[in-house]
Amino acid sequence: MDKFVIKGPCKVKGSVKLSGSKNSSLPILAASILFDDTVEIKNLPNVRDIETMLNLIRSLGFDIKRNKKTSSVKIKKRKIKTFASYTLVKTMRAGILVLGPLLSKYKKAVTSLPGGCLIGARPVNYHLNALKQLGMIYKIKSGNIFAKTIKGLNGCVIKFPQISVGATENLILAATLAKGKTILKNCAIEPEIKEDLTDFLNKAGAKIKWIGKRTVEIEGVKKLKSISYTVMGDRIECGTFCVVAAISEGNLQINGINPRLIKTELDLLKKIGSKIKIYNQSIHIRGPKKIRKIKYLETGEYDGFPTDLQAQFMTLLSRANGKSVLCEKIFENRFMHVAELRRLGAKISINKNKAVIRGNSNFEGAELMSSDLRASVALVIAAIVSKGNSVINRIYHLDRGYENIEKKLKRIGVDIKRLS
Ligand code: UD1
Repeated sequence: MDKFVIKGPCKVKGSVKLSGSKNSSLPILAASILFDDTVEIKNLPNVRDIETMLNLIRSLGFDIKRNKKTSSVKIKKRKIKTFASYTLVKTMRAGILVLGPLLSKYKKAVTSLPGGCLIGARPVNYHLNALKQLGMIYKIKSGNIFAKTIKGLNGCVIKFPQISVGATENLILAATLAKGKTILKNCAIEPEIKEDLTDFLNKAGAKIKWIGKRTVEIEGVKKLKSISYTVMGDRIECGTFCVVAAISEGNLQINGINPRLIKTELDLLKKIGSKIKIYNQSIHIRGPKKIRKIKYLETGEYDGFPTDLQAQFMTLLSRANGKSVLCEKIFENRFMHVAELRRLGAKISINKNKAVIRGNSNFEGAELMSSDLRASVALVIAAIVSKGNSVINRIYHLDRGYENIEKKLKRIGVDIKRLS
């Protein structure tokens, strides 16, 4: 199993080119099921979750031509099967996103029920209940969802009981080819959905209109037309590199992001003392000499502070000049990085979903264990400012969502090696 060895402390300087957004690419790839003709997707990140989604789509009967050099893929329908196997869905919960498009286009689907994961139970009841309202009939047997429709899906008004990124995406995908009008209320409005997925589908001929902050109206169309589309930059990767700069008194130019999409994060980074300049598709960040604490910060749905940056900010706040409180509101068990950060010298206590971070910690390198994607990158960030060598095990978690992270870090001055 691969591991990273990082020798700290390092101060970063230079520029980073962000990859395409993983969380945009996944639903956009699932959307390719809705097409009869070729779809080309560009700026696709070269990470394992994308590989898994492409394998899943290939297994459903699509021809996949991937060009890793140009970060693009062409997807063309061949002979369709409507069974998404457990082996492919179990490693990545976003596999459930093929359910809506399969049902909408082919009127049936069998997909395995995704399991829980370390950060929480993560059920898919909102997806299933909403698809049922569109006309899905289903039963769950031996861990699989057997789903069909009698005469196809029919538009209706659906209000999600709670905001869910995945359920919103699945329903937009299903409603795109459903008969009549669907109105979805209380939607997730992450830019990956409200901007990227919406833009992609509309450019292919879908009729999707956001008519309120969290309400979208989808007029079903019969067919989508062939399209070539470029995915937006990854805002979580951007936030991660911002934290790397902020914590190490670094000086970074980060390219490939619309700064408007990460205003909440940039405001927080300014609050802890960073100097930030924004440009059209890039930002420039200088980390402070002394990191200022944040009294209270909680994760929330967009445009709140993203749960996918909670672990990275916890590392940052461990080095701040006083006590900060970080509250996790989205997932019930997303503090696995805490025990590992403590091994480096962080002073953090947990009470239910609240972490109290005492700050002023000097980290000393140690051997660490990755547990999930964002927890792992938080450890990498900590190791960058730790004195001496840190070894981070099980970095396959990182490979799920960060493209070439060690190359990008090396280029800006981090002493990092991958051991296979
Ligand atoms: C997506 C992102 C993930 C991010 C998360 C929250 C992708 C591929 N993943 O995950 O990186 O951390 O949004 O921003 O884009 N829930 C239910 N029932 C459901 C669905 C969700 O109870 O049917 C609960 C979940 O357990 C969780 C909360 O709702 O507590 C939010 O989950 P959701 O927004 O659906 O996250 P994902 O789409 O899984």
